[in-house]
Order: sequence, then structure tokens, then C-alpha cells
Amino acid sequence: MVMEATDLAGVEKFLSRQQLLFIGGRWCESTSGETFPVLNPATGKVIAQVAKGGSADIDLAVKAARKAFCSDEWQKKITPADRGKLLWKWADLLEANFIELAHLETINNGMPIAIAQMALAESIKFVRYYSGMTAKIHGKAQHSKSGSNGGNALAYTIREPVGVVGQIIPWNGPILMAIWKMAPALAAGCSLVLKPDEKTPLTALWLGALAMEAGFPKGVINIVSGLGEEAGAALAAHSDIDKIAFTGSPEIGREIVKASAGNFKRVSLELGGKSPNIIFSDANLEIAIPTAVQSIFANQGQVCTAGSRLYVEANIFDRVVDTVVMITKGLKVGNGLNPDNHLGPLISNKQLSRVHQYVESGLQEGSKLITGGKQIGETGYFYEPTIFINCNSQMKIVQEEIFGPVLTIMPFESFDEVVQKSNNTTYGLAAGIWTNNIKKAHTLASYLQAGTVWINSYNVFDPTCPFGGFKQSGWGRECGQEGLDLYMETKTVMCTL
Ligand code: NAI
Ligand code: MG
Repeated sequence: MVMEATDLAGVEKFLSRQQLLFIGGRWCESTSGETFPVLNPATGKVIAQVAKGGSADIDLAVKAARKAFCSDEWQKKITPADRGKLLWKWADLLEANFIELAHLETINNGMPIAIAQMALAESIKFVRYYSGMTAKIHGKAQHSKSGSNGGNALAYTIREPVGVVGQIIPWNGPILMAIWKMAPALAAGCSLVLKPDEKTPLTALWLGALAMEAGFPKGVINIVSGLGEEAGAALAAHSDIDKIAFTGSPEIGREIVKASAGNFKRVSLELGGKSPNIIFSDANLEIAIPTAVQSIFANQGQVCTAGSRLYVEANIFDRVVDTVVMITKGLKVGNGLNPDNHLGPLISNKQLSRVHQYVESGLQEGSKLITGGKQIGETGYFYEPTIFINCNSQMKIVQEEIFGPVLTIMPFESFDEVVQKSNNTTYGLAAGIWTNNIKKAHTLASYLQAGTVWINSYNVFDPTCPFGGFKQSGWGRECGQEGLDLYMETKTVMCTL
């Protein structure tokens, strides 16, 4: 349900200020004094000037985070249960600022307001979930009888926070991505330096202000806006960062891994996907087809799990294609603040060109465009929802992550063929299966190389369920217990009896 924006005075006030870095509990300009402009992708207009943090600012933020991490306050005075209370309070404040935060998300990212509100509601759920885990972190005890000294020992494990964490997030879901990174790190007892994407730093800065209001000690949370190649690269390479968490492109994921080698910091990566969504002829098509449309065009396809490869059993192929196209033609594209619009703009002119280049490559490689394929208007970065058929597995549009509203639909004849085609990608983030045959669904789920497989649904997220990628979609799992494990070390203590 879309709520009415009744009071947006806070957003106006926020946008009227120059946005500063949040380091050691203080708001400050960048060391260089430089700023960068942030745009609304629906209008192409500058909506804010933001401090441009560089390596000197990252260094200050890491020092502040280290000091906070080692402080008696964070280590001793604030108990795990207190950490839970701080997170809960933070979630309350997200709720209290719900309308304004969602509005700011839409004017900075472009996403339809309903999606911004849904993502914020999920973010709040996510913080509350991790708030409930802080006092339940513990190791295991065991009687060790197989020791190399032949002895009898009492062994136990202790779970400790990994330390000072660097977190680099993308622009496609600025609030959700910030929360997915920050909440488990804070629950584990880490301190952190977050670098939001330079296209969408605004809501992360607001989250920082709310965390301060919730009462997190100074320096536990630091937010440094800045360019990827400057602030991001400095954070990834910093020798006093114990762990780096990244969501973004595989190219930069590779850079993060290289940069982490300096001090062998722990690394987790979420690098996107090219996810297959598979419809068998025995599926409930009334749900499968609209969900398939939604799975690729929600957030303009700028979703890591977007169902960008739709595989349809050959005997229903034409029927499914016709219905998908019919629903797609009814989608409205426009400013995300208008609740009637289903798709907003792409994030930037650069992303628009990238998407259009993929569309041109699809045409050059011989696939057939059946709807879309063009920019809409000249203001903002709007693009038509686009569909190709007559595609094969070698084509770039079938292999590469486009991160835009472009769907490829391909037929399959047999179970084995769709397994082979689905897995024929360097990615392995997600997959969808539509069938009413339970055995077929679960057998196929076991064969698919994907971190998440949805059966008779798509893009359902749950804070309790691990999320992440096989193959080149990344390393590690966020959400659930695994999401907390990313931010902890295990210590074994053995006492010979
Ligand atoms: P990107 O990977 O360049 O940006 C993601 C984050 O990394 C941003 O915070 C950016 O500032 C930072 N970054 C950039 N260069 C860096 C460096 N050298 N060192 C450290 N941090 C750095 O993604 P971009 O260029 O915005 O999008 C390009 C493509 O990446 C998209 O079209 C999409 O295919 C993919 N992507 C995937 C995402 C996912 O959810 N897995 C999210 C965003 C992009
Ligand atoms: Mg980039």
C-alpha cells in the first residue's frame, strides 16, 4: 500500500543543507573541502551537494572506528543485550521517519515510491531480526579426546566480533543495502565505516543521523561518502580494516579482493546475477506470468536477482510470450513519486547508455525485439521495458548482467535441457521454478547452481534466510545466522584435563 506523503518538511530541510561526512560521531567536511553533486534521475537535476571523502577521510574514519571498537564502552559497558536495544531503537526511528526516508530514497534513486516503502519496511524488519540476536551469540563446549597429545581436554569456542569493518554498497537499493550491511555488523559487536555509492549517498547519511539519535557510541558507525575509486579503494586497501563487505559489480569485486590481500582482511562479496526463471506447462500461469514480468521490471531491472532469463516450456511458449508482452505494454514508466507508475528512471545517463548498448548488441547478434528498446523522453533516464525472443546462450544479452529492464525469453523442451541452459552462466545468485509437480520442483532446485531458488514465487526475501551467490556471484551469505557469522571470528580454547 502506498502511503500519502503528508509531511516532507524534514526532507526539504535535509536537502537544503550541504551533506557532510559522519566520522567519530561528528559531522564534518572532507579534508579536501571538496563536494560532489547528487542528482534526481527522474529529472536529471542536482538535489544535493555532498562532501567528497577521500583516502585521508577514510583514514580518519578507520581510526575513529578502531578507537570505538577498542573502547571499554563498546566492549564492556554496553552489553550484548544493550546492543540489541540500540538496534531496536534505531528501527523505531526508521519507522518514525518512514515517509520521509522513503521519499528521499525515491528522489535520489528513482525507484517507485511503493518499492521504496516496501524496501524500507523490509529494512526495519531486518534490523529488528538482528536486534534479537545480539544476546544469543555463543560458542560450543566439547570434551576433546582426540588431541595430538593423546590427552583429555575441555575445549570450547568463543565467538568474537571480527573488528573494524569496511562496507561498500551500491545504488540500486540504498537503504536496504546499507541496513543489510550495518545491522549484522553492529549485532556482532563490530564498529564500521560505510561508503555509500556516490550516486545515492543521501539516505545512508540520514540513517547515520538516526543511529546517533538511537545512542550508538561515537565512532561505532562512520559514514564516508565519496567516489569508488577514491574513498572506496582506500577503504578496501586500508591495513586497519579487518573485514570488507561489498555489493556491486564483478569488476570492482575483483579489485576489492586484490586490495584485501595487503592484510588478508576477510572479504564477502555480492556481485549480481543473470538469474533463470523457469516456467513449466503444469504451472499456475495466472501467478507465474505476472510474477515473471514483475521479477525483471521491478526497480527497472536494477536488481541483483532480476529474473532476466525467462525459460518457458516449448508447448506453452507462444501463449506465455503473448501474455508477458501484453502485461508489459500496460506498465507505466515515469517519476517514481507518482504512485501510478510501475517503473521509474534508470539511475544515470551512463546506466541508460549501458542498457541501450546491450539492446543494440541483442539486435546485432540476431535476437528479435518484440517490445521496448528505446529511451522515453529527454528528461531523466527513462527506458522502455524491453523483451527479446529468438535468443541463444551465446548472446551477450543472455550471458551478461544488464541491470536494466531487458528480458530474454527462451523455450525449452526437456528437464535436462533447462538445467543445462540455466546453469550455463558465470553467475549463480538466484533462480525461479514454476510447476505444480513437487518432485520436479525440488529435483530441479537441487540441480540449479544458485544461492537462492524460489519455487512458485520470485524475489521473496526474509531476514532469517541466507542470501548470496554461487560461482562468480560472490562469496559468503548475508541474512540469517550466516549473515552474522560474516562479522565474527571463532576462537577455540583447549584446557588439558
Ligand atoms: P560499481 O561496482 O562500480 O559500484 C558499487 C560500489 O563500489 C559503489 O559504492 C562504488 O562507489 C564502489 N566502487 C567503485 N569503484 C571502486 C573501487 N575501485 N574500489 C572500491 N570501491 C569502488 O557498480 P556500478 O559501476 O555502479 O554499476 C555497474 C554494473 O555493476 C551494473 O550495471 C550492474 O551490472 C552491476 N551492479 C551490481 C549490483 C548488485 O546488486 N550486485 C549493484 C550495482 C551494480
Ligand atoms: Mg563502476
